[in-house]
Amino acid sequence: SSSQVRSAAAALDSPLAARSAPLLQRLERSMSSVTIPPPACMLRPLEAPLRYLFGPGPSNVPPRVLAAGGRPIIGHLHPEMYEIMNDIKKGIQYAFQTENNMTISMSGSGHAAMECAVFNTVEPGESVLVAINGIWGERVAEIAERMGANVHRMVKTPGGYFTNKEIEQAMQKHKPVLFFLTHGESSAGLCHPIDGIGDICRKHDCLFLVDTVASLGAAPIFMDKQNIDILYTGSQKALNAPPGTAPISFNDRACHKMFNRKTKPVSYLFDMTHLSNYWGCDGKPARAYHHTGPVSGFFALRESLAILAERGLEESWRKHKEVAAYLYRGLEDLGINYWLRLPSVTTIAIPKGYDWREMLAYIMKHHQMEMTGGLGPSIGMVMRIGLMGYNCEKSNADMALHALADALKNCRKSKA
Ligand SMILES: Cc1ncc(COP(=O)(O)O)c(C=O)c1O
Repeated sequence: SSSQVRSAAAALDSPLAARSAPLLQRLERSMSSVTIPPPACMLRPLEAPLRYLFGPGPSNVPPRVLAAGGRPIIGHLHPEMYEIMNDIKKGIQYAFQTENNMTISMSGSGHAAMECAVFNTVEPGESVLVAINGIWGERVAEIAERMGANVHRMVKTPGGYFTNKEIEQAMQKHKPVLFFLTHGESSAGLCHPIDGIGDICRKHDCLFLVDTVASLGAAPIFMDKQNIDILYTGSQKALNAPPGTAPISFNDRACHKMFNRKTKPVSYLFDMTHLSNYWGCDGKPARAYHHTGPVSGFFALRESLAILAERGLEESWRKHKEVAAYLYRGLEDLGINYWLRLPSVTTIAIPKGYDWREMLAYIMKHHQMEMTGGLGPSIGMVMRIGLMGYNCEKSNADMALHALADALKNCRKSKA
């Protein structure tokens, strides 16, 4: 109306308008002076090929889990989300075989759980003992060093075993507050025995931390029965969820240590005083905002834990063992030596005379299949084939063996 036009004109004449005019001009100029154009790649649709993920992870995600992750999201603090998180907690308790109340999922990959475990249970200057027989122990040693722990390394060649006696001797010497061991050493293809170590740790007043990122669901682990104080895993291996969430559980001994600290943990995001509240584990009536959890990731994780619960742990362990044994027989037929035994990830010796990088590239190009080389100390020593969870089928082992046979036929073989 004409009165609105008049009042708008009056407003423009006002001293305030006069003062803000240059600002408005600057705003307009900045909006029209974009110097970086929209990138051409962003104007093309997303492309992600279908691949057989037969490496050490991530592994293929079944349609049911993909569909769960693709559901419309809800708020991370909605009551329905709390219910889903409570379900996840129960699913993890089953998968870990624990009754620990302090059982949550990290918002982050396996490394988030590694850091959470160390950051919360160790204070700067305290002694930590780490068993290293592949890459993962070395990673944890570095994480502990970065937060100021006094780290003692027990080192074996990749895939080596530690005897309980060796562990106890090192414990007597270094008096650690935390001992780390990898259950499924994915870089070296080894499943390390656990029995008896938890008791040794108790005797020496040390917490026992075990990494099951590459073995959970594929090889038996019993957190409570084996006296493991802190256990973690990842979502993207035998659980077949997308990467980005990582279940972790702390028993009462671990809780006592981490909630009676003199110093705060170095990480705010990974501080268990906050995370335990966010996951409803601290007994307080209300859950407060701490960080925005990965809602879609938690949907998918819940579905993958549901599949494990439906299938049953024992059946899952049996299946991994059966398919691994089937794969070993096929490798023998091809004349390929396999190394150590972890039912989820098989390490094979690089076939003599072949370039492992060329073989892997050939298999990727002609079979749309990922297998990988070694990792850390096992680089150049091995190639790795992972058949985990949803991928753990004899038909997939056949495809992997067929791809390997094809690569042996068509890749260059040196005369040496
Ligand atoms: C035994 C083990 N621990 C830890 C990790 C680290 O997990 P992420 O890559 O999810 O951070 C991996 C990943 O391959 C692993 O195999």
